[in-house]
Amino acid sequence: MFYGLIMLIWLNSPLNENGGNMSALPQIGSSIGSLKKVDKTQNAIIVDYDSGKSMVEIFKTGIVHLTIQRGNSSRKSFAVIEKPEELSRYKVDADKDRISVSLKDGTVSYLPGTMGFSYFPKNGSNSVALTGIRFDDSGLVATFDIHGARNFYGLGEKTLPFNKYGSRATMWNSDFPAYSARLDPLYESIPLLLKADTSGAYGLFFDNTFRSAFDIGASDSDRLVYKAAGGAFELYLITGKNAAEVVQRFSELTGKMPMPPVWAIGYQQSRWSYYPEQKVLDLAHGFRDREIPCDVIYLDINYMDEYKCFTWSPKDFPTPENMLDTLHDLGFKVVTIIDPGIKDEKGYRVYDSGLNENVFVKKTDGNYFIGQVWPGDCVFPDFLNEKTRKWWGEQYRFLLGYGVDGFWNDMNEPSVFNTSNKTFPLDAVHELDSGTAEHSEVHNVYGMEMARATREGLEKLEPNKRPLVLTRASYAGGQRYAAMWTGDNFASFAHLKLALAMFLNIGVCGQPFIGSDVGGFIGNPDAELFSRWLEFGCFSPFFRTHSVINSAQREPWAFCAGGASAFGGDSCSFTKINREIINRRYEMLPEIYTAFRNASQDGLPILRPLYLCFPDNEEAYKISDEFLFGSNLLVAPVLDSGVVSRRVYFPDGTWSSIYDGQRFESGWHEVDAPLGRTPVFVRDGAILFTQSVIQSTSEQADTLILSVFTDTTTKGSTYFDDGESMAYKSGDFLDMRVSYDSGSHGELLRFSSKGEFKPQYKFLAIDMVERTLPRQGVMKTNDGQEMKGKISKVKNGFVRLTFPFSTKVESISVK
Ligand code: GLC
Repeated sequence: MFYGLIMLIWLNSPLNENGGNMSALPQIGSSIGSLKKVDKTQNAIIVDYDSGKSMVEIFKTGIVHLTIQRGNSSRKSFAVIEKPEELSRYKVDADKDRISVSLKDGTVSYLPGTMGFSYFPKNGSNSVALTGIRFDDSGLVATFDIHGARNFYGLGEKTLPFNKYGSRATMWNSDFPAYSARLDPLYESIPLLLKADTSGAYGLFFDNTFRSAFDIGASDSDRLVYKAAGGAFELYLITGKNAAEVVQRFSELTGKMPMPPVWAIGYQQSRWSYYPEQKVLDLAHGFRDREIPCDVIYLDINYMDEYKCFTWSPKDFPTPENMLDTLHDLGFKVVTIIDPGIKDEKGYRVYDSGLNENVFVKKTDGNYFIGQVWPGDCVFPDFLNEKTRKWWGEQYRFLLGYGVDGFWNDMNEPSVFNTSNKTFPLDAVHELDSGTAEHSEVHNVYGMEMARATREGLEKLEPNKRPLVLTRASYAGGQRYAAMWTGDNFASFAHLKLALAMFLNIGVCGQPFIGSDVGGFIGNPDAELFSRWLEFGCFSPFFRTHSVINSAQREPWAFCAGGASAFGGDSCSFTKINREIINRRYEMLPEIYTAFRNASQDGLPILRPLYLCFPDNEEAYKISDEFLFGSNLLVAPVLDSGVVSRRVYFPDGTWSSIYDGQRFESGWHEVDAPLGRTPVFVRDGAILFTQSVIQSTSEQADTLILSVFTDTTTKGSTYFDDGESMAYKSGDFLDMRVSYDSGSHGELLRFSSKGEFKPQYKFLAIDMVERTLPRQGVMKTNDGQEMKGKISKVKNGFVRLTFPFSTKVESISVK
């Protein structure tokens, strides 16, 4: 059904702040005049109106793009990298009355006369229809009939409820330290709304970078209302048979996370700030002396000279190259923070060079915009501009020269201390790659473009190294450039819960590489909260402890009885618990690295909501306190204080605890969860790949362990490469596939592999379900060798067969 244009009523308009006045109720009637003609080009159907245009394009991923613009307001997308297809490949009917496109999963129609747009999925699940759109001087308002749909997810980094139905949300990148539940907007804007339930799924991606707002059934239960403070209406309708397919297609549209260096998925320690040099070195020794694994140390703003980017403090870091050498020798990588604000100071190298190259953002009067951040008065690079991005990328040469390994882009919403709107003036001028734009139009992409400039610069300066860029602000597509973290959270169990709810929704918006400040940035966690958060961090894609200036010590050994003790007291039980948790991250590394590899290829999140993997399970759409990590693990973190067990929902199948092998059938169960042991379960039928503990990824683990979680038949695979270079792109990786079969003649594991990379493990251990008969295992390699395995008993009712490690392994037979 089509509804023509209707009166849109939306009283509580979040667009009124900063983004233009939208309080006047929109009127009936199109604001772009009447229909003039419909044309078909090779890749688009274009409809002309008196004072505007609309356009329909189709992507091979089953995505239809509808633009409706007043005048000529459509811009090249910052998010989309996929190209539209030739229309001749599709069944498209187009005339003045109706344009209709038949896709695998349903039919899309656009009525040029009324601008009605609708999607009817083939499987009879909820349709969705754009029933009205209006442009006026304060932007655009569009309304949709959601036809009974009640489950909506996505919208990126939001502290709103897990299911967004019934919520209002705003997209305007904002710095809100110690934000609370439902405080909106925050640092990032990813305007993708995912409808998903057991009947089916679709995505609506609103690719407009102005301040925008959503009302998802909050004012009117069957309507979705979308507003933007300017620009064109750019809707990508993403079809698919279920949520996972929609998410995968969105990642084809906006790009995938590149493979990070392996050290960036190890444990990382940060603080505002570790300084001076000696403190940093003590910290590094603190980890190694206590045998608590750690890969990365972060240097926050105090490493700089008066907070000036691309400098070292001569007082606190007089010999950075020596410090970096020592840290590297100890197996650490170092990441430094870099903010966009460049101190407004003649004689400061970076400022002078930027002035010379004319790279800073200007006000309408042609003078530079000056705003205060950490160094005081600052100018800001215009990352929207290619020349500026190149200039910015080049600045990293300075820190790379000292051996710095990775970069953390912060304050890039952009956040400014002394302006009334806490950011740039809305009319500040950005020089885009083509044309100019006011800040109000590009505010939401400024942070992403900073991360882009950083990554592109690093790739140019060190072309054979995989960069780690971490960003606080971003937009749809930001996964192409940087990992992200959820900003300045708070040390409370409530915030721990928020972190998970945020991750679950960011993940389905194309960004798999996410983390939160472990322990909470502001405030001081007690020992219990810290360990619980560490347990959750262990299964977060990005795993970093970070805390505000002057906070209590937050090292894993700082929580002994009697409070946090600086760098002391490693014998207490909390230290032991924290060590075990971090050890687990390193044991799980083969599984985690493979999950990263898969995400970089298929675009699915690493940390997944249950409904993504169990789309037919009604309950899965409600669960916001559990997640799947990769494809084999179910994690049910403890998110409340004072508890040592929790209720866990097990989706379809049987699941075994990683701690004691206890098996659970689908449904709800009360599960033990003593401190240090966040409930984690392996799917029946999985082959889990783990390894012996290492102190950092610069070390080689001795043993690769394959645990077979079935006694019938199954398959599994894992991925290896050198963890740091780009060589994997030209075949230097190893995709190891294993099949397992058990019958009356014994058990057989068959190995096959793709790629040339040779992991350097010494041993291959196979853990199998224990049986009454004594067993003997024989490994055969493809060069004709045979070796007998050593048998030992391991925990959880498993027996272990150990062989020398060989990439030539062809089979292991057990009788
Ligand atoms: C911002 C960041 C925080 C950092 C601080 C100082 O608040 O979000 O992580 O420590 O700035 O640089």
